[in-house]
Amino acid sequence: MGKALRVVLFAFVALGFAAAGNANSLKDNPNYEILKNFKPQGITNKQCLLCHKTRDRGIVAGWQHSKHAKAGVGCVNCHVVPKDYPTAFKTHPMQGSTWTVQVAVSSLTCAKCHPEEVVQFMNSGHARAGSQWLAANKSGHGYAMTKLSYNYEAMRGDNPSLNGHADMGKGIDPAFKVNQNKPDLAANSVANTCVQCHGAVITLNKQGLPDPDVWPSDGMASLYPDGGVGSCTACHSRHTFSAAEARQPGACSNCHLGPDHPDKEIFDSSVHGHIFETNKEDYDFSTGKQIPMKTLRAPTCFTCHMSDVNGLTSTHNISQRLKWNLWAPKSFARTKGDETAGWAWYKNRKLLRGNSKAGNSEGPKTARTQMKHVCAMCHETTFVKNYFIRVDAQIELYNEYNTIADKMFTELKAKGLIRSDLWSDPFFKLYYYSWHHEGRRMRQGAAMASPDYAHWHGAFEVMQDIREMKSIYNSRIKLLEKIKDPKEVLKNEAPVSVAPHD
Ligand code: HEC
Ligand code: HEC
Ligand code: HEC
Ligand code: HEC
Ligand code: HEC
Ligand code: HEC
Ligand code: HEC
Ligand code: HEC
Repeated sequence: MGKALRVVLFAFVALGFAAAGNANSLKDNPNYEILKNFKPQGITNKQCLLCHKTRDRGIVAGWQHSKHAKAGVGCVNCHVVPKDYPTAFKTHPMQGSTWTVQVAVSSLTCAKCHPEEVVQFMNSGHARAGSQWLAANKSGHGYAMTKLSYNYEAMRGDNPSLNGHADMGKGIDPAFKVNQNKPDLAANSVANTCVQCHGAVITLNKQGLPDPDVWPSDGMASLYPDGGVGSCTACHSRHTFSAAEARQPGACSNCHLGPDHPDKEIFDSSVHGHIFETNKEDYDFSTGKQIPMKTLRAPTCFTCHMSDVNGLTSTHNISQRLKWNLWAPKSFARTKGDETAGWAWYKNRKLLRGNSKAGNSEGPKTARTQMKHVCAMCHETTFVKNYFIRVDAQIELYNEYNTIADKMFTELKAKGLIRSDLWSDPFFKLYYYSWHHEGRRMRQGAAMASPDYAHWHGAFEVMQDIREMKSIYNSRIKLLEKIKDPKEVLKNEAPVSVAPHD
């Protein structure tokens, strides 16, 4: 008995150690220490300016107005690296015997001086943005994901070895293959789309200059050759790197907008957005302090998702205060885990889909408590409690609708009643819009207090989708009973047009 207890105790201690050992640390990538300890000799900021003051007036002026310039942090601190560093620009006109310049600057450079912000960022859903879509089809270039979004030009011909998937070109309308077998056109076309919001694997040419199919980009979680993840410039544009700028709702709205995640439009049409719009001049973004009627009257994006409001700690982990996952086809409560995709790249240059349940390290209850704590600065208990009862009800209702849609889709697929080119299938299109567009609007509109998005752009349209899906479902099932062959059913189906859902 005593022995058994000791074994159990030992197991607990061992587990405890294992957990501590598994905690992600910046030290897990040797480049962190290399950069931190690197002191290039014989080079000052002034020397960089000799050429760059005239070459790059905008960049230098931006930097001169930054807190960095005032604190003595200059071009050298961010752009000078050891000669053999993974991002070294080998042919820069000026270099020393041990140092040269890097053009592709990842968050690993920022981590030298801002380790906490970088760790918080790496633990957040934002750090997944680059890996997630690239890892989705295990091929490492995201073609399956881009196929999902019409961009067939991104596929390099029917050659399976280039596409990573033997059936990549299958069933696609030839009209969408105009750029195939022109690899440069193909890769560069994706650079204008997903890459700019999500990020991609940054690759360099022989000189160490980044390639056009991935750079320039402020995509949220670009994956750099030195293991660094993320473009801190996504919210702190270079070279002012201002916190005040990042506190503005505009700092989020270059990505969080449009038919599939209209957070900007949702915010603008909420009462908080209306108050911000009409009282903008009275808001003070130069400080992170949230003092009612002094620095703000109603919250903006960063207040709720990041700030040290009402005693909460300011964080770069934008997933920390989220209870639900609202982008998924079906919403689920987040778990205790941190995000993993950024760290996998940081440690081993691995592409992972990441942990879509990442949220608060203490679980979804704490996440909700923290979000409620934000509201509590300006609203009373009953208001906040009732509000979130309603939000949760809307999300659970959406999940019910999704179950109905899911059931029809699964059955049609099992019976061979979905077309092989998904995007030419009206049922599939409706199914996609029902979760990816209107389903997100229904949930996010309710969560951020925009009744128009919760209902007219959301719930109302989800219900319309289900009505239309049902009628396609019924007619296909009926036809199948009559003619038995699913291929013939799809051939004989009367054309159904699906309007764009924006
Ligand atoms: C003797 C003039 C000169 C000095 C001094 C100089 N540079 Fe440059 N730099 C250039 C030129 C010319 C280019 C364009 C080279 C190219 O793109 O092929 C350049 C390009 C760059 C680029 C961008 C590369 C690109 O193509 O986007 C960075 C970043 C850079 N320099 C940083 C620095 C830093 C940091 C210092 C100080 C350590 C510095 N430079 C000092 C001349 C200079
Ligand atoms: C606080 C860090 C930091 C400082 C200081 C800094 N840079 Fe940069 N710089 C960056 C980052 C980050 C990027 C974007 C890199 C990327 O997207 O991969 C960048 C990009 C650049 C580029 C390429 C972008 C373009 O528009 O052509 C040039 C050139 C450049 N910096 C020059 C300079 C010069 C000159 C100085 C000094 C006056 C300077 N930088 C100071 C971080 C810094
Ligand atoms: C060599 C150290 C060093 C490096 C490298 C560095 N920073 Fe800084 N950073 C500072 C210092 C010092 C300040 C000024 C602190 C102050 O004045 O309160 C600062 C301030 C900031 C601020 C706050 C500015 C404001 O308006 O309050 C931001 C944002 C920032 N840095 C982002 C970055 C990013 C992004 C990178 C990487 C591209 C980076 N820093 C690289 C040292 C550094
Ligand atoms: C305008 C910026 C933007 C563009 C362009 C964009 N996305 Fe997104 N994407 C987002 C945002 C913002 C979210 C998060 C939505 C949320 O949390 O509700 C997201 C979410 C996602 C997700 C779900 C998140 C996850 O972890 O699984 C996937 C997958 C995705 N995007 C893939 C793509 C692909 C593939 C493309 C290109 C065909 C693309 N996106 C283009 C901004 C963008
Ligand atoms: C450069 C584009 C970009 C900017 C700017 C941006 N985001 Fe995001 N955001 C994304 C993408 C892409 C995702 C989806 C990541 C994924 O799940 O793969 C995302 C996801 C999120 C999520 C959900 C994370 C999760 O765990 O599911 C929140 C919350 C969020 N962003 C808030 C913000 C806020 C607040 C701002 C402004 C302060 C902001 N974002 C600025 C691109 C951006
Ligand atoms: C989603 C947008 C977003 C991204 C991405 C982002 N930041 Fe920030 N950052 C902010 C906001 C908003 C603030 C102000 C927070 C506050 O006042 O509570 C801030 C503040 C800061 C500060 C000043 C902190 C202080 O106490 O004054 C630093 C330093 C900083 N960020 C560094 C970084 C670094 C390094 C990265 C890249 C890993 C990064 N940020 C990425 C939005 C962002
Ligand atoms: C009044 C506080 C508040 C403001 C202001 C606010 N949000 Fe939110 N946001 C929330 C709440 C609450 C949720 C749902 C949290 C949950 O899951 O329990 C949410 C959810 C989200 C999500 C969905 C994440 C997912 O699970 O897919 C994104 C993305 C997001 N917000 C971005 C933004 C952006 C961008 C802005 C500004 C344009 C903004 N938010 C303004 C409170 C706010
Ligand atoms: C900095 C103060 C502040 C914070 C923090 C804040 N609000 Fe508000 N909120 C206001 C003000 C002011 C109004 C306008 C009251 C009115 O409509 O007359 C408002 C209005 C609202 C409204 C619409 C008006 C109504 O009576 O229905 C809702 C819903 C709301 N807030 C929810 C929230 C939620 C949820 C949170 C936390 C996630 C939150 N607020 C955080 C200040 C704040």
